[in-house]
Amino acid sequence: MESRRWLVQKMGEAGLTAEIDGVGTVIGRSALPGPALLIGSHSDTQPTGGWLDGALGVIYGLEVARALGEKSRTRRLPVDVVSWIDEEGTFFSCLGSHSFCESLAPDVFDTSRDAGGRTLGEALRSAGLWQRPRARLQGERYRGYLEAHIEQGPYLEEAGKRIGVVTGIVGIRNLTISASGQQNHAGTTPMHRRKDAGRALIELAYRVHQAFPEHAGPRTVWTIGWVEFEPGAPSIVPGRASMNLQFRDADEAKLDELQSLALEMVEAANRATPVEVSVERPHDPSRPASMDEGFQRHIADAAERHAAGSWMHMPSAAGHDAQVLANRMPSAMLFVPSIGGISHAFEEDSHEDDIVLGCQVLATAAASILAE
Ligand code: GLV
Ligand code: MN
Ligand code: MN
Repeated sequence: MESRRWLVQKMGEAGLTAEIDGVGTVIGRSALPGPALLIGSHSDTQPTGGWLDGALGVIYGLEVARALGEKSRTRRLPVDVVSWIDEEGTFFSCLGSHSFCESLAPDVFDTSRDAGGRTLGEALRSAGLWQRPRARLQGERYRGYLEAHIEQGPYLEEAGKRIGVVTGIVGIRNLTISASGQQNHAGTTPMHRRKDAGRALIELAYRVHQAFPEHAGPRTVWTIGWVEFEPGAPSIVPGRASMNLQFRDADEAKLDELQSLALEMVEAANRATPVEVSVERPHDPSRPASMDEGFQRHIADAAERHAAGSWMHMPSAAGHDAQVLANRMPSAMLFVPSIGGISHAFEEDSHEDDIVLGCQVLATAAASILAE
């Protein structure tokens, strides 16, 4: 909340009318008539995540609004700036942008919980946000949405390029797979009598890693990002075990295929082991999205002007609020390189000259879109 109040103040100093809305999104609106560009990203982060994932694009938005406001040639170009809440899914992935686009299920405040079990509604109440109105997309206000971000992967660095013009964003599926057996003594329970939920889950995880490569497309990725045994002690055969299987691809049909494969493997584990294996499917998976081609041309022209020959088109393998906005308005993204391709980790960083260049390209692209 302190960082949000700080941002409201900075937006105010940039001449925007800023507020923190009912889910914690910060939005600063220009007094100029539309159609405006909405520019921003998110400012929440992953557990032990880095300093640029999200925050970079928010500060770029603020700086573009400030910079355009300083020059007589661009002073009349309307830019609103946004810092979305909970893109990373502490409670619900892309919460702020879904709320803004009115694509949130009404029960999300009671059903979405953080890792500690607190509901989203409880968290909003304790932050003092519950009574506040939620910012909503107003029909004609926007020409479109722009988001800049670190790449978070190695492709720009490997290609020796400094700007990525994003063509589209992957879809993401998460399956929570649980095994339920019988908690028992790890010394006295003979091997043939065990209903070991942990073993069943580890064997399933191994089979997933064996089977997925045969079905994967060239850019499919999959991750088992957490595994939990209950109660989790050296001398106890685990009675319950859960893990998350996530997979990503830009092709929805590929995601369907991998989901069917995972569900078949769960069924096979059920038949082969004395424990019960079950799956929770996400009710609202994140879908692949294409970026607006006209906006891509503006970003590419701006990149060519500031860094001739040092940019390339590329897909995004990370999820972004832009894929939610893309359902409601033309949307586009640009990337700056991540050192060593590291992100979602404290080591995440980008070279300072790339950070400066990215903001210059974004400002030039924003001005040329608005002047069109
Ligand atoms: C978003 O941060 C993602 O995990 O892609
Ligand atoms: Mn992230
Ligand atoms: Mn991000």
